[in-house]
Amino acid sequence: MNRTLVRLLDDRSAELRDRYGIKFRVTGIASRRLGWIADPTGIDPEKCGTGTPAREISPGSVSVWLKSAQADVLFEATSLNVEDGQPAVDHIRAALNHGAHAITANKGPIVHAYRELRDLAAAKGKRFFFESTVMDGVPIFSLFDQLPTIHLQGFHGILNSTTNVILSQMEQGLSFDEALKKAQELGVAETDATHDIDGWDAAVKTAALITVLMDTPIRLDQIAREGIRELTPQAVRNAKRDGWPFKLVCRASRTENGIEASVKPEKILSTQPMAKIANTSSYVYFETDIFPGLAITEENPGLYATAYGLLADFVRAVKD
Ligand SMILES: NC(=O)c1ccc[n+]([C@@H]2O[C@H](COP(=O)([O-])OP(=O)(O)OC[C@H]3O[C@@H](n4cnc5c(N)ncnc54)[C@H](OP(=O)(O)O)[C@@H]3O)[C@@H](O)[C@H]2O)c1
Repeated sequence: MNRTLVRLLDDRSAELRDRYGIKFRVTGIASRRLGWIADPTGIDPEKCGTGTPAREISPGSVSVWLKSAQADVLFEATSLNVEDGQPAVDHIRAALNHGAHAITANKGPIVHAYRELRDLAAAKGKRFFFESTVMDGVPIFSLFDQLPTIHLQGFHGILNSTTNVILSQMEQGLSFDEALKKAQELGVAETDATHDIDGWDAAVKTAALITVLMDTPIRLDQIAREGIRELTPQAVRNAKRDGWPFKLVCRASRTENGIEASVKPEKILSTQPMAKIANTSSYVYFETDIFPGLAITEENPGLYATAYGLLADFVRAVKD
């Protein structure tokens, strides 16, 4: 993810400098394979992992690495951990404590530590942004920043690309395994595809939207979750033929008893907007007190869609 971001930043660097007055250099890179690399004078990310000597910080301390890199901004893009959001929560906490803005594409910290990280960012006068966590880089969280005092009553949508690709391909006659392979080839499946297939990824996104936009922390076990594993190719094809295609639908609504939320396969009437969301496309429909129905469709995002959310967060963080 961050490699794609580096390419996008590089591609847009002249525009960022000339139009927004933003100059940047990469001073730190870290992953388990690469180690903790820092050099405040700048690192060429394309050369990392190619055997070129880099200045490596002794492992173990994110804060030492951030200090060595003299980091102003951290882009956190480790793999999703649905259990507790780690190590991303620790990485973001360390960045904010160090005095850097923290930007993440990782949903885990939003579900497991949103309020703590939001409050820490405010206390440090830094920004904690996470636009890429839901619907790639489509401006959802920043949209609601532009809607002061609006009340979100609920939402529904299709937020997981892997299952949407699998269902679309099964409608075309592929087996489940063939359809999953297709999703992996497209690069949309999470590292562990069971997270997608069993509805975890969609549930985490649903929880992130509820936590932030409905201002109500919710645990994943409070979301009724059912994946697409039990759907046979025949059932998927028949549903499509009958004009009620299956979709993995995320729902949340505010009720007298609190927020009710679910992620499960539903048959959607083919004339409904959700029924037309195929392959890697995604969709969300918000019900608010001012705008009764406000919908966003993201059609077939390209390679840079998620990285673009990180770039947009970066610009907002350093410009504000
Ligand atoms: N791909 C998308 O389209 C997309 C869209 C929206 C959001 N996201 C989110 O963005 C994040 C990154 O996505 P991705 O597709 O790039 O995931 P990925 O392929 O799993 O890559 C994760 C990266 O994090 C590193 N990493 C994992 N655990 C680490 C640890 N404990 N310490 C240090 N580095 C660690 C990995 O390198 P090592 O193995 O070398 O450590 C790898 O470079 C995920 O949270 C994902 O949910 C992805």
